[in-house]
Amino acid sequence: MRDQAETLRLKMLKSQGELSRSIAIVSGKGGVGKSNFSTNFAHALLAQGKTVMIVDMDIGMGNIHILLGMAPRYSLKDYLVSNEELHEVINETSEGLHFISGGSGLDNVLEWSKEMFERLIQAFEYLQQKYDFILFDMGAGATQRSIELIVAVDEIIVISTTEPTSITDAYSMMKFIYLQDSDKTFHMVSNRVSKGEEGNEAVKRLQYAMQKFLDKETKILGFLPEDPTVHKAVIAQKPFLLLFPNAPISKRMMSIAETFVGANSSEGFKQGEGFLGKLRNIFTKGRG
Ligand SMILES: Nc1ncnc2c1ncn2[C@@H]1O[C@H](COP(=O)(O)OP(=O)(O)OP(=O)(O)O)[C@@H](O)[C@H]1O
Ligand SMILES: [Mg+2]
Repeated sequence: MRDQAETLRLKMLKSQGELSRSIAIVSGKGGVGKSNFSTNFAHALLAQGKTVMIVDMDIGMGNIHILLGMAPRYSLKDYLVSNEELHEVINETSEGLHFISGGSGLDNVLEWSKEMFERLIQAFEYLQQKYDFILFDMGAGATQRSIELIVAVDEIIVISTTEPTSITDAYSMMKFIYLQDSDKTFHMVSNRVSKGEEGNEAVKRLQYAMQKFLDKETKILGFLPEDPTVHKAVIAQKPFLLLFPNAPISKRMMSIAETFVGANSSEGFKQGEGFLGKLRNIFTKGRG
């Protein structure tokens, strides 16, 4: 077990702003656009000169590599289970986006062993020093471990559509995460907003509920419209931001990324022990 000296070193790096911002992309209801958000948001961050890693946490059913038009040889599971080297499972697209695939075609739920969790921690120790942003695209069927991972990251981006069911499910998810770590920074994005709807209305309702019932401040990053270019881009296996840079949705995505980069994220994790510390705590708590 690594010790306090290391936690201190990580804290120091963090306060010097040398470690990544780690962000989980979550939703209540599935299928609301998390994976498409992750790949396009990543490219909007790249456009600002940032280095970005996407980790597809939908292990066995991941689709980040499909959205990026890549066929990686290895996935996160190969690193965790088959002892593949980390550099073997990190892929790079021609646009310079780095990602670790969740792999596809497997539907057995991963049983996390102590060794796998240790390997996950080792991987993130390395990734945290290498990238400006690490995005975790969370799968629809959240396993116990993936929920614990959410709890460990510094920031959460919640994606919700404007449907009442999506909003109430998003609230339940945010409340669940908040009750485990009240320091976390929550950012919200409304997706698939129709013409004539007030763009941020859905997330404003979420913001209001978080404030009123949990006394928790949250941040609105903005909204993305319902746009047929998303479907076209999925078929073409290229991010819409690259295929249709002038589409309204691409412009909104760029502005969401700018807002996000400008958002003061450091307040939450200065007092805490950061991602690795939390991950390790979860690990020790869970395993005794
Ligand atoms: N703004 C949008 N306009 C039109 N279609 C969209 C938009 N956002 C997402 N979609 C469509 O919604 C579908 C689901 O998107 P995506 O796979 O990104 O959701 P998800 O939240 O990652 O799903 P899961 O929970 O299964 O992982 C896609 O087929 C995509 O074409
Ligand atoms: Mg997805």
